[in-house]
Amino acid sequence: MSIIKLLNNKPKRTIFTTPSHNQNPVYSKEYKNFYRDDVSELEGYDNLSHPESYILKAQAYVSGVFGTGQTFFVTQGATTAILAAIKTIVNPDNKVLVARNCHKSVFSALVLSCADVDWFMPEVDEDWGIYTHIDTKKLDSTLKLNDYKAFIMTSPTYEGINSDINEIANICRQNNTVLVVDEAHGALYNFSDKLPKTAIEQGADISINSLHKSAGALNQTALLHINKNIFRYQNSDFQSSLNLFHTTSPSYPLLKNIEQCIRFLDSKKGKKQIDSLLSDINNFKSALKDKGVEFYEENHDSMKLLLRKKGVSGNKLSEILFDKYKIEDEMNNSICCLYLTGIGTQNAKLNKLKNALIEVPCENNFEYEKAEFQPHPNTKLKPWQAFSMKHHIKNSEDSLLDISADMIIPYPPGIGILYPGEAIQKWHLKYLDKTINVI
Ligand SMILES: Cc1ncc(COP(=O)(O)O)c(C=O)c1O
Repeated sequence: MSIIKLLNNKPKRTIFTTPSHNQNPVYSKEYKNFYRDDVSELEGYDNLSHPESYILKAQAYVSGVFGTGQTFFVTQGATTAILAAIKTIVNPDNKVLVARNCHKSVFSALVLSCADVDWFMPEVDEDWGIYTHIDTKKLDSTLKLNDYKAFIMTSPTYEGINSDINEIANICRQNNTVLVVDEAHGALYNFSDKLPKTAIEQGADISINSLHKSAGALNQTALLHINKNIFRYQNSDFQSSLNLFHTTSPSYPLLKNIEQCIRFLDSKKGKKQIDSLLSDINNFKSALKDKGVEFYEENHDSMKLLLRKKGVSGNKLSEILFDKYKIEDEMNNSICCLYLTGIGTQNAKLNKLKNALIEVPCENNFEYEKAEFQPHPNTKLKPWQAFSMKHHIKNSEDSLLDISADMIIPYPPGIGILYPGEAIQKWHLKYLDKTINVI
């Protein structure tokens, strides 16, 4: 029983159901197979909101591959998996501790679950202008201050920094706090000994993988993993929450794509491809080390190329690589640039980036602009209260210390610097001023 086999060997049927394209491209031939597989929950095709056969088996297979208690397929991105995970655990007014560098979808989940949120500031690296890991001593002492239902964090971070999940899971267990790790960017960790252990292997209660970010699957494919050792919740609790947020027309092509992705990564060929990518990346880095290019290495996911070039700002480097070489990065700041790789990255692409990086000229006596980090949020209202409250529009210069009704979220990385319910601080106004002037 496999979703792949089901869709590849479909018996001929005359289907009078949605979708209206009738499993054939109406406008363009490009996505022929996608159309062929795009059916609804036909009789015998199983149902993502209550899986009993093909989907159940495929999920069980993937759960076995990841060594989880239960894994759910999600066809609406890691966002929906995050909404469902948090909604399952957090009841209205439960206190939760949340790392501030979480993706905006975590904030959406906090609004929808009516959580009482305290923010936890991760460590920062001023020389690179990035958030880094979760300090475990600080976490332990913070968790002791309140009865926190859950701690929600991201590892690897958007920039690729891994925290010590093993230690964090121990601390959370001792404090009776559920650990949710947004591991959207770490979907390949399960498939190579050269990569860090997965959050679930290290003891996280719940983790979320996005499969399009590094694992080569289509956009919106994601997995929600539940640890075997989480006893407080039933798998059906997570299914019910997923059913709250998930469309009633889940995409079969995406479900098939999830199963194909994991079967490939779990095969000899898939593992070989990850090894070969890691080796290409090592060679890429070695070739650049004496060319003025420095890589961020500490506790870092080597597949995310976070680099800076001596004598040129990250923003300028990004601009030159795009304008002159048509190479687009994922993110850049005043210091560094982030280039994502994944299972589909070929050596030729790395070589192109390498040659361009070598050619970029650097200025003598150049100094990086100092990185600025957001202050600790000054929370005045719970996110759900502020979100639905009456509000009015003001000039930003008159808004110092007012409570924000809206959010400021630079994208990428999709990490909020101001959320509804938080007091507007001088730092935010300066940030807006600077950003609007740049735009
Ligand atoms: C850390 C992190 N978590 C979650 C998400 C949301 O993922 P998706 O776009 O698959 O919903 C993102 C997206 O960029 C992300 O960077």
